[in-house]
Amino acid sequence: MKPGFHYVNGQLCVDGVPLSELAEKHGSPLYVYSGALLQANYRRVAKAFAKTDCLVAYSVKSNSNLSVLHLLEQEGSGFDIVSGGELERVKKVGIKGERIIFAGVGKRADEMQAAIKHGVLEFNLESEAEAERLNQVAATMKRKAPVAIRVNPNIDAKTHVKITTGKKENKFGISMNRAMALAERIRTELTSLELIGLHCHIGSQILDSSIHPQVVSVVTDFAREVMARTGAKLKTLNFGGGFGIAYKAEQKPLDLKPFADALLPELKKLGVKLILEPGRSISAPAGVLLTKVEYFKQGEAKSFVILDASMSELMRPTLYDAYHEIVPVLKARKGKTAVLDFVGPVCESGDYLALDRESFVPAQGDLLAIKDAGAYGFVMASHYNTRPNPAEILVVDGKAQVARKRETVADLMKHEL
Ligand code: LLP
Repeated sequence: MKPGFHYVNGQLCVDGVPLSELAEKHGSPLYVYSGALLQANYRRVAKAFAKTDCLVAYSVKSNSNLSVLHLLEQEGSGFDIVSGGELERVKKVGIKGERIIFAGVGKRADEMQAAIKHGVLEFNLESEAEAERLNQVAATMKRKAPVAIRVNPNIDAKTHVKITTGKKENKFGISMNRAMALAERIRTELTSLELIGLHCHIGSQILDSSIHPQVVSVVTDFAREVMARTGAKLKTLNFGGGFGIAYKAEQKPLDLKPFADALLPELKKLGVKLILEPGRSISAPAGVLLTKVEYFKQGEAKSFVILDASMSELMRPTLYDAYHEIVPVLKARKGKTAVLDFVGPVCESGDYLALDRESFVPAQGDLLAIKDAGAYGFVMASHYNTRPNPAEILVVDGKAQVARKRETVADLMKHEL
């Protein structure tokens, strides 16, 4: 059995299980994840950096389902979290602090406290004010908080503007000059912090393989400077995630080799541990959103395929004009194609899953799979138009299990008076 999503006798299957069976049993729309692909995608990253001491800290925000976290925990993954909520998730799965990285620009004091208590490996510091707060929280707890300063190198990751994080106009990280001053303050004044590393993540869905090597050069030079000027003994360098995937047939996933080639000799010289925080490259290709065609509508200017999934379940097309391939679960008859808009039932003109798509022509009632929806799919779902979130199914060792039950309208109303 080939891991992932493949046609077997004209039927699209996940790790050998027909998707139509899952939709029949669990309804539609439905998120379905391949455990075998999650494992394979994790292993691809781990293998590319296996020659060095490396913690692959899966980025929980990309898909935080407990069953997904559990599966990756068994692979030996670490975890990159960005909130107290995500901390609760990884704790629930039994993950020790030494495998957890805590990132994010707006950490609250109570979140810091919980993370110190759990013994996280490092906090990625995003500002001077955050450093001061963390110092205070740690001092009150009579502990030292391990920190990595997140630097913002002002490098363009050549990706969508809304997922670019390493330019000076972005809210993330601290410029090199100020990072140096902060390192100095940690040594002299913020003494409940221990500077153990540097962190840098300049964007997501990066497909240009020359970007990460540029970051390596800037960050490793800076690490040397910090150690020389402040006497800090850095133990970790964290290069974030951002490894792009092939949403379109003509794209290729980011080749990790140029990154590893640039990085490994530098790490050896510096004698530090590598941390990576990949999210999308592990979870995106491992998931689809199944959806049924409710209606076909011939408009005045366009042809609409109206689905039972919408921007409430998968926001990426609306938010980033993201492209997700849409394929039939029962292999389409060859020949007939048309330019179609795939839209949802939500009352917004921006509610679409694909626009002006040259596509096979589905019929009412057909089941379709929206591909590469395993990352930033379910986690970004809303309840807009009082739409309960779909169920999530994870296939492990060829067996489908419910990873999250479908919500009901009663669930949505239960906190309201
Ligand atoms: N580390 C940090 C500090 C991050 O901010 C992110 C993603 C990651 C790691 C993981 O990046 P990845 O390997 O997944 O590219 N919702 C957007 C993506 C937002 C990414 C946010 N940060 C989308 O759907 O494209």
